Amino acid sequence: MPLDVIVLAAGQGKRMRSALPKVLHPLGGRPLLAYVLDTAHELGARKTVVVHGHGAEAVRSAFANTDVHWVLQAEQLGTGHAVLQALPHVGQDAQVLILYGDAPLVRAATLKQLLEAASDGLAITTAELDDPRGYGRIVRKAGHVERIVEEKDASAAERGIREVNAGLMALPGRRLAGWLAKIGNRNAQKEYYLTDVVTLALRDGVPVNAMKVEDAMEVAGVNSKRELALLERALQRRHAERLLEEGVSLADPARLDVRGTLQCGADVAIDVNCVFEGRVSLGDRVRIAANCVLRNVTIGADTEVFPFSHLEDSEIGARCRVGPYARLRPGVSLADEVHIGNFVEVKASRLGHASKANHLSYIGDAELGARVNVGAGTITCNYDGAAKQRTIIEDDCFIGSDTTLVAPVRVAKGSYIGAGSTINKDTPAGQLTLARARQVSISGWKPPKKS
Ligand code: UD1
Ligand code: CA
Repeated sequence: MPLDVIVLAAGQGKRMRSALPKVLHPLGGRPLLAYVLDTAHELGARKTVVVHGHGAEAVRSAFANTDVHWVLQAEQLGTGHAVLQALPHVGQDAQVLILYGDAPLVRAATLKQLLEAASDGLAITTAELDDPRGYGRIVRKAGHVERIVEEKDASAAERGIREVNAGLMALPGRRLAGWLAKIGNRNAQKEYYLTDVVTLALRDGVPVNAMKVEDAMEVAGVNSKRELALLERALQRRHAERLLEEGVSLADPARLDVRGTLQCGADVAIDVNCVFEGRVSLGDRVRIAANCVLRNVTIGADTEVFPFSHLEDSEIGARCRVGPYARLRPGVSLADEVHIGNFVEVKASRLGHASKANHLSYIGDAELGARVNVGAGTITCNYDGAAKQRTIIEDDCFIGSDTTLVAPVRVAKGSYIGAGSTINKDTPAGQLTLARARQVSISGWKPPKKS
């Protein structure tokens, strides 16, 4: 049977106290809704219908390139009303799965079980909570689910029930229209409750199966910043568990943040407080020291990154040493065995095999060959006030400390540049070039006297 997924995402999320629509709040660096859409995709949904309302334009444009049907629920009259808006887009022939845009951590495997439980009727998810406040309660009779009662409509006895409706539901598409038509809003909140379909199904003799979800985090929704923070930790815990499972050494699984995808080779070690954003790939035996931020970087085998380094949109070869306090800005490519030391900033540049810039330098829009040694305090003056200019340093050059290279300029193979030089003309290969005032000493000079 084909699968059509309805995602409810129209709610405002008042308790977030934010101008951002709730489902756009980031979890692990991505909007909440992205996780739910990924899961629908993973389940092989034929169609995904997203019911949206609050911040409709912002939500749609955040997912402009995603293959989903958008349905506008202008007024949020309840979960039943929300599903009704999606009805024209789901098939009679389909199994329908209802997900919440603000419950991002549900696993596809759990939902597969739910779909199986719904093969002969309707299936709901439940969870056993120590504190069930705010949730709909599962009312059972002789062990069988009888109905779901919302907290605001529940009697004192019903409020004592700890088994709650987790919200996610699977049901046959051909029944949906009939049941939704019968849902009213005569309840404490004057809302159309989707949960009423349980009673309607039973009345029609359709079996209702309740599937208990063991890990309550899977069905936890985000209603406040506090809950968002809790889910963030749960997500990070999952990332850490996966990495440990794969054999990555984590100094502290609780002090790791993956905001994207992190791929690791064998025997990778990651120290505390590192943040990985976008797509990061670490080769075999790579070591990342404490307090590093890596965003969209690829690192070759045996490279070591020292503390407090910030690496962005760069490719780093094998056996390199980077940091401490290194900054690689977008467009950097380091060949194997390159050393980038403390307080060195590199931008849009390539460094050839075994080249080194160990201290206090700025290398921007430059092309360095192999075995180049960049002395402390070297600066490429890449900006003439209007445009960026390139600096070329060929193989085996030695750039003395405190050299300024005024681009565009080419330092030919094997050049030696004397310390403190300002180089604004191309240098000849294999020669020592000095561009600084000659040192003079004045004999017989006397210091000024104070009057
Ligand atoms: C709902 C369930 C409750 C369950 C809880 C689990 C109903 C009537 N109640 O309650 O039994 O324990 O979820 O979290 O279904 N939404 C819309 N349009 C609306 C109303 C809601 O799109 O008109 C969306 C929200 O954005 C949210 C989801 O539906 O993603 C759930 O809505 P919410 O208001 O949080 O439902 P609860 O009252 O918490
Ligand atoms: Ca809720």
